[in-house]
Amino acid sequence: MSDPAVTYSSYLKIDELLELQQPRSTGPEHDEMLFIVIHQVYELWFKELLHEFDRVRLLLEGDESFRVQHTLKRILTILKVMVAQLDILETMTPLEFLTFRERLEAASGFQSDQFRQVEFVLGLKSEQSIARFAENTRARKALVKRFREPTIWDAFLRYLAREKYAVPSAHLHRDVVAPVEPSPEIQRILIDVYRKDPKNAELCERLVDLDEGIQEWRYRHVKMVERTIGMKKGTGGSAGAGYLRTTLSQPAFPDLWEIRSQL
Ligand code: HEM
Repeated sequence: MSDPAVTYSSYLKIDELLELQQPRSTGPEHDEMLFIVIHQVYELWFKELLHEFDRVRLLLEGDESFRVQHTLKRILTILKVMVAQLDILETMTPLEFLTFRERLEAASGFQSDQFRQVEFVLGLKSEQSIARFAENTRARKALVKRFREPTIWDAFLRYLAREKYAVPSAHLHRDVVAPVEPSPEIQRILIDVYRKDPKNAELCERLVDLDEGIQEWRYRHVKMVERTIGMKKGTGGSAGAGYLRTTLSQPAFPDLWEIRSQL
């Protein structure tokens, strides 16, 4: 017997997908569906971003700078959609959120391992965030794997070295579990790139777009949090908006920001 013909529904697993939205409030409260759907959509975009970041790293390793640009363009387009989607959740008023907020208990975006994976692949590594995930779970394993992998920045510096820039070996062979720190030596190289090498300067600009895109998401998220719960504590146990504001000033590629005042 041959397999049944592939259909829209069987290929995309629509039946399974539509089973995954399960409100916890009694009624259930009308706005909980939006809250669930939007978070699930974000998790899917995180998945796609990670998929594309893996490709960027691979293309950098293969010195395929034009294809890196192409993939970064896709990533940036996704990020724009991700930022824009926050508008939808902002149609939920503080009182509407309160109709089901307590049913979230301690659940919070804090516990999104894919968001932490995005941070890790960009160089924002922190061993502390791994500890929040239980041992032997999918989330913990995925996060530990990302933690040990080189970041996009590492791949970019190795690419620049192959493009004949004198990247110090301490940077090429750094311990990749450490967060990426600003470096005056790298900044001198980047200034050279910007002044003399339009192809790679353009690549740097796309990385700045990426960093700015993530920061834009963080900013819009914190504004949404402020208008929805004010200065209340988060369900994840943090100070809420106060905590989130501290994450706004942490660029993924600090050297690319630093050189702007030196050019
Ligand atoms: C009404 C809507 C939302 C509110 C009130 C809200 C509130 C918060 C708060 C207070 C935190 C700080 C951690 C805590 O104590 O819980 C947080 C973290 C976070 N939220 Fe949201 N959030 C909302 C929607 C979303 C959406 C749609 C996403 C999409 C995935 C999201 C993703 C995250 C992530 C990834 C973090 C961790 C950020 C970090 O540690 O830098 N949140 N959220």
